[in-house]
Amino acid sequence: MSSNFLAETSRRRTFAIISHPDAGKTTLTEKLLLFSGAIQIAGSVKARKASRHATSDWMEIEKQRGISVASSVMQMSYRDHVVNLLDTPGHKDFSEDTYRVLTAVDSALMVIDAANGVEAQTRRLIEVCRQRDTPIITFVNKMDREVREPLDILDEIERELGMPCVPMTWPVGQGKAFGGIVNLRTQAMTVFESGSERRPQDFEAVPLTAPEALRERFGAEWDTAMESMELATGASPAWDREAFLAGRQTPVFFGSGVNNFGVMEVLDALVDLAPSPQPRSSTVLVNRQPVTREVRPEDEDFSGVVFKVQANMDANHRDRIAFVRMASGKYTPGMKLKVQRTAKELRPTSVVTFMSQRREAVDEAFAGDIIGFTTHGGVQLGDTITGGAALQFTGLPFFAPELFMTVILKNPLRTKQLQQGLAQLGEEGAIQVFKPDAGGAMLLGAVGQLQFEVVQHRLKTEYDADVRLEGCQYTGARWITAENPADLRAFTDAYPLRLAHDAADTLAYLCTSPYDVRLAQERFPKIHFHPLREHA
Ligand code: G4P
Repeated sequence: MSSNFLAETSRRRTFAIISHPDAGKTTLTEKLLLFSGAIQIAGSVKARKASRHATSDWMEIEKQRGISVASSVMQMSYRDHVVNLLDTPGHKDFSEDTYRVLTAVDSALMVIDAANGVEAQTRRLIEVCRQRDTPIITFVNKMDREVREPLDILDEIERELGMPCVPMTWPVGQGKAFGGIVNLRTQAMTVFESGSERRPQDFEAVPLTAPEALRERFGAEWDTAMESMELATGASPAWDREAFLAGRQTPVFFGSGVNNFGVMEVLDALVDLAPSPQPRSSTVLVNRQPVTREVRPEDEDFSGVVFKVQANMDANHRDRIAFVRMASGKYTPGMKLKVQRTAKELRPTSVVTFMSQRREAVDEAFAGDIIGFTTHGGVQLGDTITGGAALQFTGLPFFAPELFMTVILKNPLRTKQLQQGLAQLGEEGAIQVFKPDAGGAMLLGAVGQLQFEVVQHRLKTEYDADVRLEGCQYTGARWITAENPADLRAFTDAYPLRLAHDAADTLAYLCTSPYDVRLAQERFPKIHFHPLREHA
């Protein structure tokens, strides 16, 4: 282990920002970038949200629906720390992408609309964070509006998260009467003023040592706030960083992103409270037996996992960017890297980091950083990339699709293009592609309906393969394994028409009703039916 590596990794923070659409995720992202100095002009992230579609045809679909399909990565420096922010698509139909982004981070920042509380999409995301014990920082946004009582919101978050909230700031009033926030750590009140020009350090801060003056200034709002704050702090446990890191309590901040208010507190929390890169589990073969090994961020060998593959925006090129979350070591330009699945050398055409809006050539990168390899292929979602060490990271989830369509090519002469398109889109994880063992039309499996539309659109514009999608009898799939090959053979012999292989060549059983799996399981108790496939 090198002390330089340790210093570099301990100053890194890699987190995902999650929310239900419209809670204010884009606004908060922009303000975090602005106040860390990563961008100079407010409005550029939002502008990008709207304009990046203009640069690519296939993103047109995104523009039409006003949703964000692709998640993006942004890096900023703040207080001598390197902060990597991973955005997640808000629309539920792209939740698979979001889940995979969550495997690439060490913590999550959850944005809640103070009027709406915990909404449907947030609930799903919380579940994934809970499964992985990802530490969550909570930001309650839009306090400048008529919203719910803070105690009420905390109560709901606690219920939904299944863990206690520890308020770090507390609001005084709301809507037109929003007076500001009390910072419980510094014991000072920051006074609210609306507008998007103000820098966080320009807000007036009044120490709580003179409560009379504050009462006079904020009237009944002050008294109510003090009362509820006392109740909230009395009911919540003391701040315990270990509990937070273990996903057993969440610090809560209040503010108004659009007014730059309460945002600096969140940025500071990311540096002061959020964890640096954590060790990751991998599998190594020892005497041909898989053994679990922990890869520590300060280990010197480069290792990382591909958690996202995205087609380059230029439809004329087949380039794709493989987003790699580094788990250990140091990346320097020109170093030799290997894709563990194929044992082939990775030969990228370029390697980039994501400095807020720009992509830049990487000088060096450490564990926690996200680097993008531009390639022509040979890299799949879930691939482990190392400097040479033979190991595989586990844990990148693929969910059993709940919706299926068959693909009918309108012009049979385009078969080759269709196959290439489906293979690549399958590798990207845009959709799951199943090839029935018994032959016949390819099947597309999705978790959300919009995935089909995106894929149909992309097949046409990027691969010149015009397809019709038709409904079929399948309603689910399970990945199949068995300890004993003879058991597996007995099963595949019994259901030859229900079997298919996915893009990673993994065997799956296709179901036509929820009872299917139960019946098949009763008949073949030694077969494992997996609703989730972890890339291994
Ligand atoms: P999202 O990425 O989570 O989908 O949300 P986004 O930031 O795009 O914000 C959704 C809407 O909420 C935007 O309004 C935004 O201006 C507004 N908003 C964000 N933070 C606050 C806040 O603290 N207070 C108030 N009052 N509004 C906030 P919009 O009308 O959809 O867009 P725009 O025209 O304002 O850009």
